Amino acid sequence: MIVCRTIQEIRKETGKQKQEGKTISFVPTMGALHEGHLSLIREAKKHADLVVVSIFVNPEQFGPNEDFDTYPRETESDLQKCREEGVSIVFLPDRRELYPEEKFLRIEIDDLNRHMCGASRPGFFEGILLVVNKLFNIVEPDAALFGQKDIQQFLILSRMVKEFNHDIKMVMVPISRANDGLALSSRNAYLSPEEREAAPSLYRSLQYIERQIREGVDTPGLLIEHQKSELEAKGLKIDYLNVFSRKTLAPVETLSNSGQYILAGAAWLGKTRLIDNILIDY
Ligand code: PAJ
Repeated sequence: MIVCRTIQEIRKETGKQKQEGKTISFVPTMGALHEGHLSLIREAKKHADLVVVSIFVNPEQFGPNEDFDTYPRETESDLQKCREEGVSIVFLPDRRELYPEEKFLRIEIDDLNRHMCGASRPGFFEGILLVVNKLFNIVEPDAALFGQKDIQQFLILSRMVKEFNHDIKMVMVPISRANDGLALSSRNAYLSPEEREAAPSLYRSLQYIERQIREGVDTPGLLIEHQKSELEAKGLKIDYLNVFSRKTLAPVETLSNSGQYILAGAAWLGKTRLIDNILIDY
């Protein structure tokens, strides 16, 4: 496994491989790798000859009061995991390598940013778009893999690929969960033992609402309000819990036949923000 810290190094390595006719799958991450990340790496192998993983905690996607400084950094064990999974190249740039100078351009996101996480985290998806756009231009992969856990991220980046003409196949990988259902996340490390016990209740509420919808409820508003109160009683502070259109990401009050939806929730548990979702084809 080759570890590249500069853009020049990784361009040289990927260039060599491409010259030999090899295709590249790319898995961008912020490190503190867990089974969710590893499932992306395993899936990545099916889409190309070799896998490139990037590890970079991107300052541009953290708000001023968010956890950039405390975000878990575990480079040595991350590299070990990548080695064990058969990753060919890890791109490990430092901040100056990706952001060497003051920047004068930013990309704006339209409607897809109005709801879900975009509504409560100003600048978040712009920061993600910026770094992934850079990474795509540096790595020039044939395929890129992202998790369903961050579905708004996947959908916004897919629009970017389409509208900015990146020649990259976007692949979404299902959510990896702990045995009790909690979606795996690097941020779960922040949870206290009591919080960790309460954390799976977000997914349980989503599952409950999903069952009701599958049994024929087409206006889940009241049901959702009830689940919100139950979660608040368990100490979760709800940011959003709703059904959203998979196309526009706008909230949906009445589900209609053959509609494609995302049942999604975000909640604070102490200082940890949890997100989760279930796809619904009605
Ligand atoms: P990070 O949170 O490290 O996640 C990297 C990738 O792993 C993302 O595509 C995310 O959706 C996926 N992932 C995380 N937890 C998962 C789980 N439980 N199951 C399946 N996939 C999971 O997302 C980012 O980093 C950043 O925003 C990034 C795209 C790297 C840009 O900085």
